[in-house]
Amino acid sequence: MTSRTSGPDRRDLLSALAAGAGLAACASAQAPAPTAVPAAVPATGPRKSRTGFPVLVGSANALAGMKLHYQRLLDGADPLDIAIDTIKVTEADPTDDSVGLGGLPNEEGVVQLDAACMYGPRHKSGAVGCIENILHPSEVARLVLERTDHCLLVGKDAYRFARAHGHEHVELLTEASRKKWMEWKETMSTNDDRLPPPPKLPHVAAARTRSSFLRDRVTGTIHVSALAKDGAIACCTSTSGMSWKIPGRVGDSPIIGSGLYCDQEVGSAGATGRGEACILAQGSATMVELMRNGASPLDAGLQTLERVVRQTKRQARWQPDLLDERGWPSFNLVFYVLGLDGTAAGVALYQPRDGGVLTYAVATPDEGPRLVATQALLS
Ligand code: GLY
Repeated sequence: MTSRTSGPDRRDLLSALAAGAGLAACASAQAPAPTAVPAAVPATGPRKSRTGFPVLVGSANALAGMKLHYQRLLDGADPLDIAIDTIKVTEADPTDDSVGLGGLPNEEGVVQLDAACMYGPRHKSGAVGCIENILHPSEVARLVLERTDHCLLVGKDAYRFARAHGHEHVELLTEASRKKWMEWKETMSTNDDRLPPPPKLPHVAAARTRSSFLRDRVTGTIHVSALAKDGAIACCTSTSGMSWKIPGRVGDSPIIGSGLYCDQEVGSAGATGRGEACILAQGSATMVELMRNGASPLDAGLQTLERVVRQTKRQARWQPDLLDERGWPSFNLVFYVLGLDGTAAGVALYQPRDGGVLTYAVATPDEGPRLVATQALLS
């Protein structure tokens, strides 16, 4: 299912702006002359839009969808259509255990999904949190964007909203993910998300028993940011959230400013990894603001990760398992950043210990869709 995003197109926007300018001219004809000339707004940051250079950037698990849909972006398709259609490929893939069908369930064996999308030309977003039994939460997020005056619907009411718009009821727990859940349940020990009451400082000698759990658990997610031929920007993020989470937990993915954010004046950003850390840093909005103030996508990503590390060290005084024995965050977080000029970056807190490399997916007119190594902050 592919549809153009409804709403004003470029022409509508230009005529609306022209109309707005006309109104302002009218108003100033009647208003008293200002007594002082306001200080000029410093010309920081907004990256010059580059038209005719469509780009996709996102998590590595978006590569399959990018290969299917990037040509449409080159042909002039809408960036929100392409971001969502790219993500739907992974939502329907039962072998990806971090998104949609086959996503790992919560503590009780129920798959609860979060998704959001944002469309730069309208500066509008839509999201669903904790939705069950719907194959394409990204499409429901788009319905919230296009067919409501809200930003976020959650739980059973998000499900009812999706059903009312014709989405089928689907069992998302596959046999493979049910087996992994049962194995965790039978052996979970202290590896869950419930914490004892906080220790009183300076008594912080609690064992780091959860630190390897935080490192190894599935926190995967899919994110895609898209820059269209005409310079319009959009993004989408979708996830089944952290494996074995407490029922009702909502991560960063459907929180605008955390798991994704875009601004038609600046660019777009998104995140995968430990949602709690991204929410507490307002990761995606922070990256967009840094770009607004002149940072490149790479610097915006790395500076935001630096902030996450500082914040995690503060939290770890109460919750030591948030750091590993190196003093680094015991979880990972990956950011995907796209400037309006088509420059893109993928950054991670660190590379895997097994010598592997975390990659991200990018598609540009010169080289097409491919995987590229992320730049790690810590090494
Ligand atoms: N980043 C996905 C989540 O934490 O739910």
